[in-house]
Formats: sequence, C-alpha cells, structure tokens
Amino acid sequence: MRVVLGVAGGIAAYKACSLLRLLTEGGHDVTVVPTAGALRFVGEATWAALSGKPVHTDVWSDITEVPHVRLGQQADLVVVAPATADLLARAATGQADDLLTNVLLTARCPVVVAPAMHTEMWEHAATQANVATLTERGVHVVPPASGRLTGRDTGPGRLPEPEELYAVCARLLARTPPASPTSSVEMPPTRAVDGVSPRSDRRGGGAGDLTGRRVVVTAGGTREPLDPVRYLGNRSSGKQGHALAEVAAARGARVTLISSSSLLPPPGVEVVRVETALDLEAALAEVAPGADAVVMAAAVADFRPAEYAAHKIKKTHASGGDGSLDASAPVVTLVRNPDILAGLVQARGDAASPVLVGFAAETGDGNGSVLEHARAKLARKGCDLLVVNEVGLDKAFGRDDNTVHILRRGTDEVTDVGPASKVEVARAVWDAVLPLL
Ligand code: C5P
Repeated sequence: MRVVLGVAGGIAAYKACSLLRLLTEGGHDVTVVPTAGALRFVGEATWAALSGKPVHTDVWSDITEVPHVRLGQQADLVVVAPATADLLARAATGQADDLLTNVLLTARCPVVVAPAMHTEMWEHAATQANVATLTERGVHVVPPASGRLTGRDTGPGRLPEPEELYAVCARLLARTPPASPTSSVEMPPTRAVDGVSPRSDRRGGGAGDLTGRRVVVTAGGTREPLDPVRYLGNRSSGKQGHALAEVAAARGARVTLISSSSLLPPPGVEVVRVETALDLEAALAEVAPGADAVVMAAAVADFRPAEYAAHKIKKTHASGGDGSLDASAPVVTLVRNPDILAGLVQARGDAASPVLVGFAAETGDGNGSVLEHARAKLARKGCDLLVVNEVGLDKAFGRDDNTVHILRRGTDEVTDVGPASKVEVARAVWDAVLPLL
C-alpha cells in the first residue's frame, strides 16, 4: 500500500524514523514528506535512506511530476507523526503553503494525525478547536500520551510509541481498498460520525493479539437529569475507559465505546454517546450480545431523580394566593438505577462469553481494607475480573495516571499495576482479559 508519512517540526520527529521502519518492514511503499521544521530535527538524508526515496518539502521540486497533487491522490493512507500545533492549525484551516499541507488537501484516503507538543500547547483552546475540526472531518487523531516531555516537564503531549501508531495505521490499511490514482479524486470527502470515519466498515483486522475479537467498553460518569439545567453526576472523566478502547483497537479488536465523556474518541473506534444509566443500559442491550468482552469502566450512578422537571426548578416559588414566596429547598426523591453489570452477569448465565470486567472505586475503612472490600464486591457482582482503583480526592478521577489492582474471580490472584498511565493500566487489563477469551 502507498503511505505518505508526514513529519512536522517537533523533537518527536526522531520517533517517526522507527514508524517509517515499521511501515516499510510491513511491506508498504512509504514516501516521507517532512516540513521545513522537521528537517531541522532529522535531516533529509535519514528520511531518504530509510524510505529508499527522494524527499521533498516544498511544492517547487520536481514540478513536472506535480507531486503536490499526485502524492495525496495516490496514497492509501497519510499519517502525520508528529503533528505540531502549527501543522494542526494549518491543516484545520486548509492552508497549502508546503508539500505536506498540499498532500493533506488532496488526500481522499484515511488520514491519521498524531499530535505531539508541550502540554500547554496541546490543551490550548485553539489547538483543541483545530483537533475538533479535523476529527469532525474524519481525520483519525491519535491523542498524545502522557509522560516526560522535552525538558524536565511531564504531562500529556508525548508522541505515542511508534508501535502503537503503526498498529493504528495497519488497522486502517487492512480495511482500505488500494486507491486508484484517478478514482480517488472523485470520492466524496469523508465526515466523521462520532469519530468513526464513514469509510470504516467495522470489520476490524490488523495485527495484534485481539484481532478478530469484538469488545465493548463503557466510559465516563453518567448524568442523571433533574431538570433541563441540572443533573446528578460524578467525578469520572472517562479517561480510563477511552484508554481501554484505544488500546483494544490498537491491538486489533473491533471496539464499541459507550461513553458519556466529552473526550475525543480514539481513532477507529465506534462510539455510542450516552448520558444516563438507562441510556447506557439500552446501548449495551444493542451491542453486548455476541461480544467477546464487555469492560464496564463507566461510573454508573446508583440512583437517579425519581422525577424529571420539564422546566427549571426555581430558587423560589409562589406559595398560596397571597403572592408570598416560598424559599424552602425542594426535596429530591431518588430511585435506584439497575445494576447493569449484575444484569450482564445474569444474562450470560452459564455461558463463558462475554468476559465481563467490572471496575470499582474503593477506599479502606473500619470494616476492611481496599482489597477486602474489593473481594467481597467481586463475589457479589459475579463478573470475571474486577479492576480496583484506590480513590481519594488526589487519586484516580480526572488524572492521567492510575494505581489499580486486578482481581480474578475464583482465585486469590491480584495483579498490581502502577502508578502508571491510564494507557498502561489499559494494557494490563487487556493482558488479564486475554487468557479468559
Ligand atoms: O457496585 P459498584 O458501583 O462499585 O460497581 C462498579 C461496577 O459496576 C462498575 O464496573 C460499573 O460500571 C458497574 N455498575 C453498573 N451499574 C450500576 C452501578 C455500577 O453496571 N448501577
């Protein structure tokens, strides 16, 4: 397959050399298109030697071959790694001031971008808006990993490891018919529906130990509405669930992510957006049958308001006919939500599939340690694995790292993971699921 590897001017350009190696060793025909900034980090000779092809940056070289149009049109995949804040801005606004941005405008194949930059730049509203624009257009954005950056600072902004990027590329290439140089020009532009390119045929495929498996991951805290403005919620960010979906997809699984989080969906994952526990239960009823594993990372509210007020509940309301205002606080009655995981366990009965994984946020107390509470919960819930987070105000929720214990039903086995990034925790969870599949 024909791959264009775009490289923008960031320190992580050196990691693109390994990605190039993986792509060429995977049998692909790779043309490297660095920006002028990228060549300050890794020189033209390195790219040419590793790809076995000449390397151009501007639109004025080899003009008779019209490379600024041809490269994008003929590509089966364009991957930009690293993508700097500047490159994302130029791509989002459709600029065409160098060869790489011309390629991005002419490509009709899947496009993967892997942003890498300092945390402040990544989190800036301008960068996030550009990423949202690109995602909306069907570009697969691989979110940056968290960890050590160029200097002594750490945080989200690192380019994911070349193997992870290669897995994303391999998966997209596995389900892309080779582009024909002429027909690709006539294809309509792609548009993402909740992060899934309409060209993705949900067949899965690609390398990895979860290839051929279909898995479901739930993520985020449910929101139980009180009125059109207010809801009962919790502090779950959805980061761990999204990392689980991302890692499963990178390892070859076909993934459905049921999420109440506003995080960007990982590339190549089918996303179902939900808000309440009942939405989540309904979404699972659609997709869980036939799945190989269901990982319940969502923080499902145990209770919801018994009544939904169609109009905003006012601070004060008129009482009686004398026009006086009643400023007493309203009483909210709650009703129990179904325990969705317990329902899945019940529906599975004696069957071995799907493998069911629960999450639990625990604190130790006078009645027992975190692990003792967790064991009791695992027995009560009847799922196969329980991933236990130790929680506190400075732990687990919203953070990029996590410390967990993975317990397996019917054994005394405990796998301790972390402190580690949520992606690493996700890897450990799938490692624990694999032998049960
Ligand atoms: O009992 P607890 O809420 O701690 O259990 C947490 C696990 O159960 C999580 O995997 C969560 O997704 C799931 N859960 C559920 N339905 C609920 C509450 C929690 O499926 N109503």
